[in-house]
Amino acid sequence: MAERVALVTGATSGIGRACAVRLAADGFAVVVGGRDADRAGEVVDEITTAGGTASTALGDVADPGYGDAAVAAALGTHGRLDVLVNAAGVITRADAEGTTDEEWHRVMSTNVDGLFRTSRAALPAIRAAGGGAIINISSTNGLVGGTGLAAYCASKGAVTNLTRAMALDHAAEGIRVNAVCPGAVDTHMLYSERDDTVDEVRQMNLADIPEGRIPDGSEVAELVAFLADDRSRHVNGANLSIDGGYTAR
Ligand SMILES: NC(=O)c1ccc[n+]([C@@H]2O[C@H](COP(=O)([O-])OP(=O)(O)OC[C@H]3O[C@@H](n4cnc5c(N)ncnc54)[C@H](O)[C@@H]3O)[C@@H](O)[C@H]2O)c1
Repeated sequence: MAERVALVTGATSGIGRACAVRLAADGFAVVVGGRDADRAGEVVDEITTAGGTASTALGDVADPGYGDAAVAAALGTHGRLDVLVNAAGVITRADAEGTTDEEWHRVMSTNVDGLFRTSRAALPAIRAAGGGAIINISSTNGLVGGTGLAAYCASKGAVTNLTRAMALDHAAEGIRVNAVCPGAVDTHMLYSERDDTVDEVRQMNLADIPEGRIPDGSEVAELVAFLADDRSRHVNGANLSIDGGYTAR
């Protein structure tokens, strides 16, 4: 049995991948969640080549059975589950009038339903491990509104308050539930679902970031690693911005 085990959804790219690699460096056996077997295998290889332990839990988080199956895979391979990082997410860039039912459903079923079901499935396993942590990758759009992001803001707002509700319900069991709320991060998502060039996207975002810098996923992963272990044992129900000052206005 591994000493500590973390399941990371959306771990085949961006912030999720950075979290998987970072937690493995901290000694967690990591279950790499993702839809693409090749990409998940690459992350497993990266972790094992560095001396860590990793396995996969393939599937779509929007599939109602994914959470239970992923937790079962973690328990089956590593014998326990201590930490869940919910990083899988999608974005759609439209105001409310421009958002179709299909796009609304795509965003909510991944960002909210998938996160909820995976968290629900993880609770008994984390409880059986004697406590642990759930960390949701939310967004500054879970704390403040954003233009042309109606469904995405709705989904991340739901994550903000689900984080608080679950923290209250499970604090006495030693299960902490926190969210990190990144501003712009240099991943596929920042540039997706839009016609602007990479440079235009960067300039638009930089204009709004007091620190004048766009980080990569590894900086978010540092905060996640802190929330995953006892260094943060009194941090619970928090939605921590990591945004270079964006939401300080
Ligand atoms: N990049 C940013 O600027 C930014 C800012 C704030 C919050 N976030 C959040 O960070 C999280 C990670 O995004 P990222 O920036 O690393 O972008 P990304 O596109 O690289 O990562 C998203 C990951 O989620 C996976 N995914 C999407 N839908 C899925 C599904 N239905 N089932 C399983 N996996 C699915 C994708 O395959 C991908 O690996 C998301 O929740 C996103 O909302 C990103």
